[in-house]
Amino acid sequence: MNIVVLCGGTSTEREVSLWTGENVCSALRLKGHNTLLLDVFIGRDDIKPEQFFELKESIEDELVYIKEKSKDIEEQKKIRKCFFGNNVLEICMSADIVFMALHGENGENGKVQATFDLLGIKYTGADYLSSAMAMNKAVSRKIFLANNVPMANGTSLYAGEECLSAKDLNLNYPVVVKPSCGGSSIGVFFANNDSEFKNALKNAFEYENELVIEEKIMGREFSCGVVKYEAYPVIEIIPKVGEYDFKNKYEAGATDEICPANISMELTKKIQDVAVLAAKALMLDTYCRVDVLTDAEENCYCLEANTLPGMTKTSLLPQEAAAIGIDFPSLCENLINISLSDRK
Ligand SMILES: Nc1ncnc2c1ncn2[C@@H]1O[C@H](COP(=O)(O)OP(=O)(O)O)[C@@H](O)[C@H]1O
Ligand SMILES: [Mg+2]
Repeated sequence: MNIVVLCGGTSTEREVSLWTGENVCSALRLKGHNTLLLDVFIGRDDIKPEQFFELKESIEDELVYIKEKSKDIEEQKKIRKCFFGNNVLEICMSADIVFMALHGENGENGKVQATFDLLGIKYTGADYLSSAMAMNKAVSRKIFLANNVPMANGTSLYAGEECLSAKDLNLNYPVVVKPSCGGSSIGVFFANNDSEFKNALKNAFEYENELVIEEKIMGREFSCGVVKYEAYPVIEIIPKVGEYDFKNKYEAGATDEICPANISMELTKKIQDVAVLAAKALMLDTYCRVDVLTDAEENCYCLEANTLPGMTKTSLLPQEAAAIGIDFPSLCENLINISLSDRK
């Protein structure tokens, strides 16, 4: 197949997306596909769109091109009107499928998917509606509630709404304050009292105008992939120091990731059931990865469903797949086949 691995973009998770893109691209090449890396925002202005799949470039060369052209990306973001880079849509229209290696805003939020639907471009993963619902934690909380997906007590708050204490929201400290549409733990703050809460709101509102505030669950953290509504093995996440923040998510060796998690069959089943319930609630019928916390009594709390979870060789979903004998290139190829068959 001629496959575009679409990465980059303008979100706070741009760099993470380039890692995913690089890994997925080389995996799909190993499977014999004609696979090329394309930055959704940078595009290609050095070739005609019809020449794209004739390029014989190394992934390193493609990354050099992307890095060179994105040196002044902050400036470009200010002046550019169109999100899509030069020739991106034309190139994607000529592909058999686009592998979505994007993370964060405009990529994970359904807007790119909606554009692709209108242009007849096939892509991996969730459709525009499910992507949009899952991306916004305030929206997904409401849908989870209606579908009996267990969650921490919480609510949403908009910029301009007066709030001096978590108590005003009927929440007990400690609480977690997070941007509604964020990812990779960026903009997540914890507060133990009113003064920390005030700071947390101020800091989190720097990222977005809508926040989700939840009571902090004290216990263990897990994640569970759901592919075609079937749960993958559960993975436990244990940061060596502190919270599961950006550094602990991406710094090699900073977090122990244990798969299958060292927990009872009962708890495994409970977490997997929550993950599948969450995926069904948001109609994530291709694949996703659901984050789940448990407390001392082994009650489960769903945090979110990730529609485009990290896809480097050592990311959580690939580790879960490896635990059931699916290697990384096969996982990437499976996700393509599932997405193609669902969108016939
Ligand atoms: N209610 C909560 N209780 C305890 N920890 C939380 C809670 N919500 C978020 N966290 C911590 O913050 C991290 C990021 O939160 P999450 O909702 O998964 O957002 P994202 O991964 O999109 O940034 C989680 O992995 C978890 O470690
Ligand atoms: Mg998460």
